[in-house]
Amino acid sequence: MVKKKACVFISGRGSNLRKIILNSNNYNFPLKINLIISNNKSAEGLKYAKKWSIPFLIFKNRELLSEKIVLKKLKDFRIDIIILAGYMKILSKKFIRSFGKKIINIHPSLLPKFKGLNTFERVLSNKEKKTGCTVHYVNEKLDGGKIIVKKFFYIKKTDNISTLKRKTQLLEYKAFSEALIKEFN
Ligand code: GRF
Repeated sequence: MVKKKACVFISGRGSNLRKIILNSNNYNFPLKINLIISNNKSAEGLKYAKKWSIPFLIFKNRELLSEKIVLKKLKDFRIDIIILAGYMKILSKKFIRSFGKKIINIHPSLLPKFKGLNTFERVLSNKEKKTGCTVHYVNEKLDGGKIIVKKFFYIKKTDNISTLKRKTQLLEYKAFSEALIKEFN
């Protein structure tokens, strides 16, 4: 199988990145992770780039110049797909247009509900019955692209921000894997 070349963007812990790398090591998984980009030089997730010897790049937050450098790297590495896995910066419209290929994101809510930040706080204060995560394509509208996979669980009375976060993350690992297989196999 010829695997598509993916670049994963991270900002922090990188637990989704870790799962994606583990999946991509399976012969039948449709993607190979060829590059990792972080906008945070102390992102914990960079340890996985080192562990699996995957090239990585720190994306400095000085907007256009950095985006230009990133685009050049994506081209040099012949990247087919960008995966945003806990990437906490918004990509500019210009960047999305210039890359011109598929970009996928994971969001910790059942989109179109609770776009943007602080989802768990809002889910709780809105007294939602269920929550979960959504894997979707990225377009120029925040958290607004075509949905690929959504997974949910019911909220218990005893749940709080940290339990919701933990439960959502466990679903995220499954949702990402399903979505990538569904779209690229
Ligand atoms: C995930 O919960 C994702 O939904 C959100 O950021 C978190 C990243 O976690 N956008 P990790 O860095 O993959 O551990």
